Formats: sequence, C-alpha cells, structure tokens
Amino acid sequence: MVLEEKVTGEEFTLQAFSDGRRIVPMPLVQDHKRAFEGDKGHNTGGMGSYSAEDHLLPFVTTSDRERAVASMQSTIDALAAEGMPYRGVLYGQFMLTADGPKIIEFNARFGDPEAMNVLPLLESDFADVCQGIASGDLSRKECEFRRAATVCKYVVPVGYGLASKAGVPIKVDEEGGSRSGAELFYAAVNEEGGRILTTSSRAVAVVGIDSSIDAAERQCERALRFVSGEDIYVRHDIGKHEVIQRKVERVRALRK
Ligand code: GLY
Repeated sequence: MVLEEKVTGEEFTLQAFSDGRRIVPMPLVQDHKRAFEGDKGHNTGGMGSYSAEDHLLPFVTTSDRERAVASMQSTIDALAAEGMPYRGVLYGQFMLTADGPKIIEFNARFGDPEAMNVLPLLESDFADVCQGIASGDLSRKECEFRRAATVCKYVVPVGYGLASKAGVPIKVDEEGGSRSGAELFYAAVNEEGGRILTTSSRAVAVVGIDSSIDAAERQCERALRFVSGEDIYVRHDIGKHEVIQRKVERVRALRK
C-alpha cells in the first residue's frame, strides 16, 4: 500500500458536475499557487488561472484528460456503491507526471479561482444544471461550455499569504473593465463610506475571455488597468505565452 509518494510534474484542475451516478466534466484549468512571478515564493490560495479554447491545456492531451475523467468517475462510482452517492461539484486537482495524471486532492466544491474560468463559459442554464444535480439526473440537462479561452488574474494586497497589507483603498472602474470585454469579480473586500478596502485575502479577480489564451491574456491585462491602488500586487506572468511554453517543454521532457 502506498502511504506517501512524491509526484513531479505540472498541476491541472478538472472540475465536474455530479448527479451521484455520472459526471459532466468542465474545461480544464491551471491555477498558480505560488505568490510571485516565475512560480516563486510561498503558496497561496491561487493567484490566477487560465483555460484554453479546446477545453484541454497546452500540455495536456485528450488521453490525459480522459484518464483524469475516468479517475473522477470511478470515485463517484465507488461512493454510489457504498451507498453515499455524491451530488454536487467535484474538484479534482491532478499532477500530470511522466506516468500520466495522478490525483493530488478532491474537494466537494468549485475551485477558486478556477470557477471564474469555467462558469462564464457555461452556455446552459446554471439553475437547470443545479436542478439536474439535486434531482440525481443530469442526463437530460444541457451542459455546454463555450469554445473560448480564459485568463484570470487576482489583484491581491501586498504580503498576501504571509502578512497582507489589509485595509488599503482600491479603485475599481467597473465600467472601464467591462468595456474591455473582461469580467470583474469582487472577492474579499469591504465597502466603507463608498470606498473599497482590501482585507487580508484576495481582492478582485479580472477574467479575460477571448478566442485564444494569448488574446484572453491581453484582454485581462487591459482590464487590470481599471483596478488601481497602492500596496496591491498582480502576477502578470499568468497566461503569458512564454510561461506556458516552458510548461509545455517541461512536460515534453518528463514524457521522454
Ligand atoms: N485553486 C485551489 C482550490 O480552489 O483549492
């Protein structure tokens, strides 16, 4: 029996809706846990994430994805066989290793920030999907995701994850952000006397959505100009072509 195993590779996230018997997978996403650019520094809840227009990732093949989906489906099957069918959202964190995808953890929820990559792409009625989950039958519900890429970058207080500079005012020009085509989501902020103040956690997420990762990344950066303030930090490297290419090369070398 394996108690502990070190796994090396690239992490990716697969989220799925489960009606207790079958799962409906969502587009793959890659989160960035490290605080600083170049995947340096301490671990955080996630500084940003991206997804690709083909719903895979540039370093994940169709067969890798199928293996990850099969692991999640067999988990759902095992729970049902034990009389505990799981209805809800299943979050699977995988490491893509030289031997294919390995499960790191499951969560009974959406990922944060990964939810913000997939939900804006959901073309079906979310309430209808939830109805299918709750009634234990998703088979007759439509669950379609738009073929678009997304790049999400979190605006966080300086020191986030260690000693955040909380209580700092930030300015969010929501109209400007929307005009750029991106989505803006407030996270952990307080509103006081008409001002938006940071807390110790992530403040605002900006999500670019376009036909390719490159275009979504550029859109996200344009929208980020509409969020300003002192003592805030963003990992601008997330979703950049050269950063993703390094991941592709790394996985290529691992597979050899
Ligand atoms: N993005 C990591 C998590 O939601 O657990």
